[in-house]
Amino acid sequence: MASITIRNLNGKTKKWLRVRAAQNGRSMEEEARLLFDQLQADENSNIATPAESGPPISNASLQIEPVSMTGQTDEVAERLRGSIAGTGSEILAGKQVLLVITGGIAAYKCLEFIRRLRDRGASIKTVLTKSAAEFITPLSIGALTAERVYCDLFSRDDEHDVGHIRLSREADIIVVAPATANFMAKMAHGLADDLASTIMLATNKPVLLAPAMNPLMWQHPSTRRNRQILANDGLYIIGPGTGEMAESGESGTGRLLEPIEIVKAVEILLDDRPKPLAGMRAIVTSGPTREAIDPVRYLSNHSSGKQGHAIASALAHAGADVTLVSGPVSIPDPEYVSVVHVETAVEMKQAVDAALPADIAIFVAAVADWRPANSADDKIKKAKGEDAPAITLIENPDILKSIGTLNENRPALVIGFAAETRNLIKNGRAKLKRKGADWILANDVSADAGVMGGDLNTIRLISIDGIEEWPTAKKQQVASRLITKIVEFFEKESIEI
Ligand SMILES: Cc1cc2nc3c(=O)[nH]c(=O)nc-3n(C[C@H](O)[C@H](O)[C@H](O)COP(=O)(O)O)c2cc1C
Repeated sequence: MASITIRNLNGKTKKWLRVRAAQNGRSMEEEARLLFDQLQADENSNIATPAESGPPISNASLQIEPVSMTGQTDEVAERLRGSIAGTGSEILAGKQVLLVITGGIAAYKCLEFIRRLRDRGASIKTVLTKSAAEFITPLSIGALTAERVYCDLFSRDDEHDVGHIRLSREADIIVVAPATANFMAKMAHGLADDLASTIMLATNKPVLLAPAMNPLMWQHPSTRRNRQILANDGLYIIGPGTGEMAESGESGTGRLLEPIEIVKAVEILLDDRPKPLAGMRAIVTSGPTREAIDPVRYLSNHSSGKQGHAIASALAHAGADVTLVSGPVSIPDPEYVSVVHVETAVEMKQAVDAALPADIAIFVAAVADWRPANSADDKIKKAKGEDAPAITLIENPDILKSIGTLNENRPALVIGFAAETRNLIKNGRAKLKRKGADWILANDVSADAGVMGGDLNTIRLISIDGIEEWPTAKKQQVASRLITKIVEFFEKESIEI
């Protein structure tokens, strides 16, 4: 069965359909269905069947997708919810994981990691470095994996069929946990002087590293360099985490992530289920803007970028091709996202315009409404006896409105955030209309709410259909919920024929 996706109609056709549907008090899908019925009634026997005519509809403005999204509605939404909620446990069923354990104090955590992988139906082969065997015994690993444990490159039992190559190729993924500073250094420089490091060179499978070491080792320029080399080589690295170290009195960044977090990363990497937003392009803005007064002073706000970055990351995990336009923030760039760094509202608008066309545009950034009319070339000096300088402000471009009211190239779904300190709903509703947005996510940014810079958010989703109240949740959870809504939106836009 094929489907027509309304978002794939060209801008003019879509607008025409939207107006027609609104005039007739129907949804766009209903309107399109009725149009097809009418066409069919008018031409009746003149329409060739798909088999006779090739593509069912040859109108260049309609794209026929080979797979019906509508047919997958429940399944896709369920899977997305599963992966977002971290319950995608079926992903690992039947998968082979090669676990390389290196000689760190956190090696004991591998026992729980193995157990959790097995609970999810994965089978695990393990390789221990010589040092790892000082921390954890092959016996306990073997008992948990129900498999042989491999330690020796020159094993007569295993190398008759070049066992290190076999091990590296049989697996669906190789996980190194814990990854010592030494092992990372060896990998970064292509050393292959034992079974574990030789396997790493001989593999063509995804490799996930979970480093764990003393915080000073992690911060050391050599380790940082090696980490960068490995990331550039396409290895996936998660953690380390921050907190108390196994060594007494030590704390900082260097802890092995919890086994369940490593399991989740494995699930994400091995998740070959269709991604619900695959093939879609999304633009997200995030963080504050800075509007220069002079070379050292600026106007800005407390936005941290946490919400926008979480949304960009969640969109990418749902398969979208994401451009994140970020103002100056102190949090790292999310993975799997193209990031454009900007400072001012004008630069942010330029970057958003350059990223069009897109299917989804989400404006989370706290863009300064005004900027100084003139930014001084030199630092404004404080002169004795003179009044404080007056700063004349001019209006910044309204990025949300400029995209929400586009005639051509308007993304199918335009979402704005409304940061309000009072009259949340009233102001959010007004913004929805004024800016031509499909949804406004209104949040209370008064100082008591702690939203700006904090980890939690309380959202009211305002659309022409009404208002949804979302409970207070972590910004990542808000992002997940929003993605679920977005997937539902596009599923509704897709109609079966
Ligand atoms: C008690 C003890 C704990 C250690 N813990 C770590 C650690 O957590 N991370 C690390 O990178 N190295 C750690 N080391 C150092 C490694 O064991 C050492 O660099 C070793 O050569 C690593 O070998 P491998 O990478 O081949 O497993 C530790 C050493 C000792 C003696």
